[in-house]
Amino acid sequence: MTEEKCILVVGGAGYIGSHMCKALARSGYLPVVLDNLGRGHREAVQWGPLVTGDMDDSDLLDRTFSARPFEAVMHFAAFAYVGESVTDPALYYRNNLAAPMVLLDAMRRHGMDRFIFSSTCAIYGEPNRIPIAEDHPQRPINPYGWTKKTVEQILADYGRAYGLKSVSLRYFNAAGADPDGEIGEDHDPETHLIPLVLQTALGQRDTVRIFGDDYPTEDGTCIRDYVHVNDLADAHLLALERLLAGGGGGAYNLGNGRGFSVQEVIHTARRVTGCAIPAEKAPRRPGDPARLIGSSDKFIAECGWRPRFADLESMVTTAWNWHRNHPDGYGD
Ligand SMILES: NC(=O)c1ccc[n+]([C@@H]2O[C@H](COP(=O)([O-])OP(=O)(O)OC[C@H]3O[C@@H](n4cnc5c(N)ncnc54)[C@H](O)[C@@H]3O)[C@@H](O)[C@H]2O)c1
Repeated sequence: MTEEKCILVVGGAGYIGSHMCKALARSGYLPVVLDNLGRGHREAVQWGPLVTGDMDDSDLLDRTFSARPFEAVMHFAAFAYVGESVTDPALYYRNNLAAPMVLLDAMRRHGMDRFIFSSTCAIYGEPNRIPIAEDHPQRPINPYGWTKKTVEQILADYGRAYGLKSVSLRYFNAAGADPDGEIGEDHDPETHLIPLVLQTALGQRDTVRIFGDDYPTEDGTCIRDYVHVNDLADAHLLALERLLAGGGGGAYNLGNGRGFSVQEVIHTARRVTGCAIPAEKAPRRPGDPARLIGSSDKFIAECGWRPRFADLESMVTTAWNWHRNHPDGYGD
């Protein structure tokens, strides 16, 4: 039996989960990944064993939890395309809501009571005040947001009834990549702005589409809050240490408190890459608010989080380092 403290990282072959595994290993934990590789990459699992399978496979979960003691479960596995959640809500309610309940049941069977959950700013829906704090009304506008909001509710109820200690971390837009260049973002299809812009820099796309340039913002394009994936991993480590020390759970925003417009992202990418990066105007997309900016003051005050890569330049530079050296992602 290993002497390292084991953490089960469900979805650890994905973008954020793989960066989490590297951060866990650096902090002396053994990340054990459970992932079905449906939307993740075997090559991204480098810092501990991989258990290949579904999070709603009770037998597999029983075998995994019996094989070694775990200090906590970090749950990153979900489908995360908003549009797909609208066209195929059954897929989302099954994978993002029903499947985690099987995982939570297995945890109860094995007496495990520490859980960290990847939630999202999508639980807030259209903001009525900026920056969005945790007490902002929660009115998701798509099934993806509803699944996340409902899991948060389940975690709170399980906490009261069964003593589950959980932290829900509501990310804004994850961005950037491992500064060492070992892992990065590889989604198919890609929908996130920074990788789309960098793929255009690489000539893999003809142009970046700017959906609306007549919003009431300084340059007319939408503003979003980006948070570096390593800063997300740091935040999980803080949440983990708090749970391990017997501290309470809760729900927290993780953003950088300021936003960057689509134009700013494109300009920064042109500067960082030295490439022209053609862009073209396109009509607004329904349901796209002008600004989405989160306040992370609560997590900063309660857990002492200090984002290290809060500037757009760092996010684009680390992402570019990954994309330039891995133009085909993991190549699988
Ligand atoms: N990327 C973002 O900007 C962002 C923002 C807010 C919230 N989130 C949330 O963070 C989490 C991680 O996001 P990501 O961008 O790393 O996603 P990702 O798709 O890169 O990673 C998810 C991983 O989970 C695995 N997975 C999915 N369903 C599974 C199942 N049933 N059983 C086993 N494995 C399964 C996939 O194979 C993949 O490796 C998700 O829960 C997402 O909703 C992401």
